[in-house]
Amino acid sequence: MKKRKIIIDTDPGIDDAFALLTAFNYQGFDLLGVTVVAGNTGLDSALNNALGLVKLAEIDCQVYPGAHSSLKNLQKGAEANPYSSNTHGEGGLGGVVLEVDRRHLSNTSAADFIIETVKDNPGQIELITLGPLTNLALAIQKDPVTMRKVKKIWSMGGGVQRGNRTVVAEFNYWADPEAVDLVYSLGEEVEINMIGLDVTAQTSFTINELFFLKKEGGKIGRLLSQMAEQYTEVYWDRFRITGCIIHDLVAVMIAIDPTICSESDRYQNVNLRIETAGLSRGQTLVDLYGHRDLKDYPKNATVYMGIDHKKYKQRFIEVLFNDLSDLYQKYLL
Ligand code: BDR
Ligand code: CA
Repeated sequence: MKKRKIIIDTDPGIDDAFALLTAFNYQGFDLLGVTVVAGNTGLDSALNNALGLVKLAEIDCQVYPGAHSSLKNLQKGAEANPYSSNTHGEGGLGGVVLEVDRRHLSNTSAADFIIETVKDNPGQIELITLGPLTNLALAIQKDPVTMRKVKKIWSMGGGVQRGNRTVVAEFNYWADPEAVDLVYSLGEEVEINMIGLDVTAQTSFTINELFFLKKEGGKIGRLLSQMAEQYTEVYWDRFRITGCIIHDLVAVMIAIDPTICSESDRYQNVNLRIETAGLSRGQTLVDLYGHRDLKDYPKNATVYMGIDHKKYKQRFIEVLFNDLSDLYQKYLL
């Protein structure tokens, strides 16, 4: 099988950790690099966490440092990451500290790495984004011609009918709406898949499933379930959900196997815009049904609204914990 050339842009983050380890283990990906952006935690912690996950997975992959703040804040010369909250706990991985090998840290910036890689592989690179879109936006500002040669983007963010950071805005897109705007401006030339809260909300992991990973998933399963302890606390306290939603994993799993969603789950060639001002800053406005008034707006996105959640979990177990598939099906499905 010819491997697909992949770059993952991420802000690890507990659900990023699930997503990254799964992508690292997927044999169909030729992972060219991991680019890091501030988001769930500040850039330094996010970099450490990405390095720790690369070492844990024992893969040979470089990690590229990216933006420490949003486009707007960078223009103002702001230093600090403005987003951090306690959702992902101490250090960003629910208090779990991973061993790192700094030889995996590159001197090249995330944006430059993305540009160079796309230049060398026109029409072949797929980007999976699991955090704010600042690194991609910086690459587009620097070299829009090259960035039009990206093959596909799989982006966790946004929501058609819901928000989680504000009433109407999802965290990743809320963190840098100007960057989202810039990225979707490529959408008529580059296939951009939005995997937002509408679909991730259908995929919660149960407490039983997390327990299963802890008991049967070896070192990786134990560490992931340990990270998720913090997350499940937040889900109960904030949303009265037992278990938790591993948003970023959904984007990676759909990128791995789009057939976990049916044709009717997927809205192709729709117009997507993002609010950049006022109370609804960060909200995605998605014209799922082709309103007549918007007919001249660019068809710049494919938006996912549904998923076969059982197939999603089964495929995840297969990819990350291959030998647990039978046990999972017997006791958890
Ligand atoms: C997104 O925000 C972050 O908290 C998660 O890592 C995910 O990327 C979900 O809204
Ligand atoms: Ca994330």
